[in-house]
Amino acid sequence: TPPERHYTIGLSQCTTSDAWRQAMLAGMQKELSFYPNVTFRLKDARDNSTRQQQQIREFLKEGIDLLIVSANEAEPVTPVVEEVFNRGIPVVILDRRTTSKLYTAYVGGNNVEVGEAAGHYIGSLLRGHGNVLEIQGLAGASPAVDRHRGLVKALASYPGVHQLTPVHGDWKRPSVVQNLPAVLRAHPEVNLIFAHNDRMALGAYQVCKQLGLDHRVRVVGVDGLPGPHGGIQFVQDGVLTATLLYPPGGEEAIRTAMKILQHQLYAKENVLGTMVIDSTNALTMKMQTEQLANQQQDIRRQQRLLQQQRDTYASQQTVLYGLAVA
Ligand code: FRU
Repeated sequence: TPPERHYTIGLSQCTTSDAWRQAMLAGMQKELSFYPNVTFRLKDARDNSTRQQQQIREFLKEGIDLLIVSANEAEPVTPVVEEVFNRGIPVVILDRRTTSKLYTAYVGGNNVEVGEAAGHYIGSLLRGHGNVLEIQGLAGASPAVDRHRGLVKALASYPGVHQLTPVHGDWKRPSVVQNLPAVLRAHPEVNLIFAHNDRMALGAYQVCKQLGLDHRVRVVGVDGLPGPHGGIQFVQDGVLTATLLYPPGGEEAIRTAMKILQHQLYAKENVLGTMVIDSTNALTMKMQTEQLANQQQDIRRQQRLLQQQRDTYASQQTVLYGLAVA
């Protein structure tokens, strides 16, 4: 067999500081462990679109065989991603889109669908009557735009559910803790808050609790991560009424990238599904994700054992060879 070609994959990440992105990276690294012929390079834009442009330029200079990118904001990051694509370097868009059709493949959730699923859940939870306050993700990031569109679309079929002017968030908890109290004081009619992710949803819950509103205002988030500080646990603890699953898709991104690099068949749109996680299924979700984590740990243990056996075998071969030449 011919020697395997070596590839360099560059990941331009809008940020790496939250648990969702860390879960994404863990998924990528797990999948990458099957490809010793791949060098993986990560640049973290730390929530700054200008920095992300520069970092993608750096990737171009340094040389990469494929770019995976999650665009901090769609508009400003689009031209440089188009430039990469136009130079013949395949581009995999992961979760946060650009505004362009010039990319090789997309991996991630359908955020209009996420917003729609949230809207229908909220509409029936409120039995068709109530006031909804939306806390949006960073303005100009494609998931924030799409989740909003989906929500509006779904709530259109519940004429008794009113939407207040949305609050602009930045995907992070502190801004919510800071800005929400004034909004809730001005709008005591709010029955439900839909935050574009679980971190902001947690902030909303904390504010409601502080204002003594936690029994009157329900909170719905997005992401549904496993683990003690993830959305599934928040639902279990009654902090959130529900969260919409938004899978990070790290494994799928690497699988798609490798198919492209190895000239295999691949899908251009790789859409990961969503679902509502609420009190009716949170325990099941929790048990399933824990079981998965245990299985992954077992696989890592087996891999270590195999490696030890290979090392032992290699050293025995050396001894045998030494005896043979003696
Ligand atoms: C993580 C995150 C998630 C959110 C996604 C949207 O960085 O803010 O919480 O669902 O990005 O791109």
